[in-house]
Amino acid sequence: MKDEEVPGGKELVCGIEGRYDEDRRFFLKQSAAIAGLTFVPASLLPGGESSATESFGDAEKVKLSIAINGKKLRLEIDPRTTLLDLLREELALTGTKKGCDLGQCGACTVHINGQRTLSCLTFAVMQNGSKVTTIEGIGSPESLHPLQEAFIKHDGFQCGYCTPGQIMSGVSCIREGKARSESEVQEYMSGNLCRCGAYPNIVNAILDVKNSGQKV
Ligand code: FES
Ligand code: FES
Repeated sequence: MKDEEVPGGKELVCGIEGRYDEDRRFFLKQSAAIAGLTFVPASLLPGGESSATESFGDAEKVKLSIAINGKKLRLEIDPRTTLLDLLREELALTGTKKGCDLGQCGACTVHINGQRTLSCLTFAVMQNGSKVTTIEGIGSPESLHPLQEAFIKHDGFQCGYCTPGQIMSGVSCIREGKARSESEVQEYMSGNLCRCGAYPNIVNAILDVKNSGQKV
């Protein structure tokens, strides 16, 4: 990605590369593990034999036990399903957005066991036993989360597509004690892109909530 393609310039690009290189390496390891469940390369099979799953068609379903927004679920899923697709396509939790689907935009950010995570770079089956929180789990239209209130107060969004991911990252930013200054928030939030350029207002919203001392 070139510097000029990212609103905010080089500082943002550096932050993105640092965070996502790690996530992408982890995702590749996960992919290898998942592929091992469903695909045997022809070169490893006895002569003339072909792999039954080589076509990458239907895969044998696997069981998944997972808690999402406090609700325990027992599911049977295709092992190749990402957490993002499980949320959006299977569970109709469409608050979590799919932007790049490549680990580069932050639109799909959720919390797994309290840690912010890119759900597009996470196979659902790898989260057996985990607790996942999505944007639907932190507030409701009747009772908004303090950071949701602050985004409204500070005009922290325009089209709103990046907003769920921004808010999930913003909550982690405050919880992890990384909201002590404008520059610290900018660095922490650098993996969440906003093509509407609402960055200054997003930072103001996060700092407002942090400085108010409200529990997030
Ligand atoms: Fe996951 Fe862009 S959709 S980082
Ligand atoms: Fe439009 Fe961020 S508000 S992409």
